Amino acid sequence: MNLTDPFQRTIEYLRISVTDRCDLRCSYCLPKGYKDFQEPEEWLTFDEITRVVDAFCALGARRFRLTGGEPLVRNNLPELVAKLSALEGIEDLSMSSNAVRLGRFAEPLKAAGLNRVNISLDSLDPDRFAEITGGGKLHKVLDGIAAAKRVGLEPVKINMVVQGGINDHEIAQMVEFCADEGYTLRLIETMPMGSTGLAATQTYRGLDSVMEELRERFELIPDIMPGGGPARYYRVAGSEARIGLITPISRHFCETCNRVRLGADGTLYMCLGQDHSFSLRALLRDGADRAELMTAIRHAITLKPERHEFSDKPEQVIRFMSQTGG
Ligand code: 5AD
Ligand code: SF4
Repeated sequence: MNLTDPFQRTIEYLRISVTDRCDLRCSYCLPKGYKDFQEPEEWLTFDEITRVVDAFCALGARRFRLTGGEPLVRNNLPELVAKLSALEGIEDLSMSSNAVRLGRFAEPLKAAGLNRVNISLDSLDPDRFAEITGGGKLHKVLDGIAAAKRVGLEPVKINMVVQGGINDHEIAQMVEFCADEGYTLRLIETMPMGSTGLAATQTYRGLDSVMEELRERFELIPDIMPGGGPARYYRVAGSEARIGLITPISRHFCETCNRVRLGADGTLYMCLGQDHSFSLRALLRDGADRAELMTAIRHAITLKPERHEFSDKPEQVIRFMSQTGG
């Protein structure tokens, strides 16, 4: 059974935010000192999340990603991974993380059935990393990434939000780091998510000019990556390394969008850059069964807008990235 939206796109991918909290404060994501988080009672329980995922599976979705905020801020996350990976029909269960706590959790997550991780890493310089993330410790993150590789949470993907004058001079070094370690590097354009994202667009750098610079140093061959989503991939000649470009601003990819996002409080968001949403929480707490959840999800998908309007209406978006999940 397929989930099709009003623009004939098949929705087969769900991102699940398990908390809007985070142990970092990346400048483009969360304001310093931000405290206005959801209360834990508002979060869906692991059972409720599992019921939503089960209904999505019944509607043909096959790929799921845990995200936050920082998903590892939520206690006992491997327990949720175990519940989800036991469901029939899941082909790919991944997680987005800042890796601060991954050194401790990589092994139990892998054992519980997690397939792979995407990790945010904007700088390899400890001071700059601390500055961008509001005090993050680079060595912890590097330990976390190494643990992911060691236990086989692969392919490890590294997400780097490119900011002009802040970390764009480090891109070549990041390519080399990822090539050496066997990670896939994904460069991301800054989106005006929330007041922080909007402010960060002052240092926006489109990836076309980044690619021009990289081509002077590396031979880049267009490549495909199975399940690569909206990124356009290149292989670095002479290595197994891949670089993916995620260009929501300079070349948006909404026409191939295949996903929706579940907020920690059970709100199903149809688009990162739009407010269209539908809350599943009341239904879940009223004991809705699989068929009822499927009907609600089908209805929600009819609300999916055609595209984001980050460029036309940048100030429109009020949610922080940590609320919807990356
Ligand atoms: N623009 C682009 N990417 C963002 N992320 C968080 N906020 C923004 C933003 N405003 C990224 C994080 C992480 C992923 C989940 O989303 O760096 O890699
Ligand atoms: Fe936390 Fe990710 Fe937001 Fe950084 S971008 S503050 S790691 S949720």
